[in-house]
Amino acid sequence: MATTNSQHAARLGHAETGGSGPTARGITRRGFLRWIVGIAALTLGAQGAAGFWAFFKPRIQPGAFGGKVSAGQVAEFDPGTVTHIQQGRFYLSRLEDGGLLALWHRCTHLGCTVPWRDDETRFRCPCHSSIFNEKGEVLSGPAPRPLDIFPIEIVDGEIVVDTSRPVERDRFDPAQLIRI
Ligand code: FES
Repeated sequence: MATTNSQHAARLGHAETGGSGPTARGITRRGFLRWIVGIAALTLGAQGAAGFWAFFKPRIQPGAFGGKVSAGQVAEFDPGTVTHIQQGRFYLSRLEDGGLLALWHRCTHLGCTVPWRDDETRFRCPCHSSIFNEKGEVLSGPAPRPLDIFPIEIVDGEIVVDTSRPVERDRFDPAQLIRI
């Protein structure tokens, strides 16, 4: 069937403005759409990655458990005392000879928080009655090993405890003590 001049002109117009052929600037409509879709996909991917990181990144506040925690100045802790450092989840035990230990307050049996009993001068686990002394040694089970310790460093008289690195022990050793 023969086409009229006006139909032919209409098809040409469609090809130039709405089809996938090259435009006057050399970019096809399809290519332009691919470019837009690619940018959108990259943006969505970046947003997804940022959301994933924000959700799963370690939430360690400065000075809180999981990082380095200041317990205070050495002079604040008398020999023969055990002090709970709540934000660090450890006890600072200063032995009679002045040596320092940072004892994780987590029972080595099943993980209950172990309170220090001033009246008994020992730790007594409320869950299954394990008992530990001021060095964290097991006096009575079922705890299988002493309380774990955290590394201590003294910075200008300040006691800084690294709660990111608990150390398991099978017994107390004087070499574990930090001396000033
Ligand atoms: S959790 Fe402490 S004795 Fe069981």
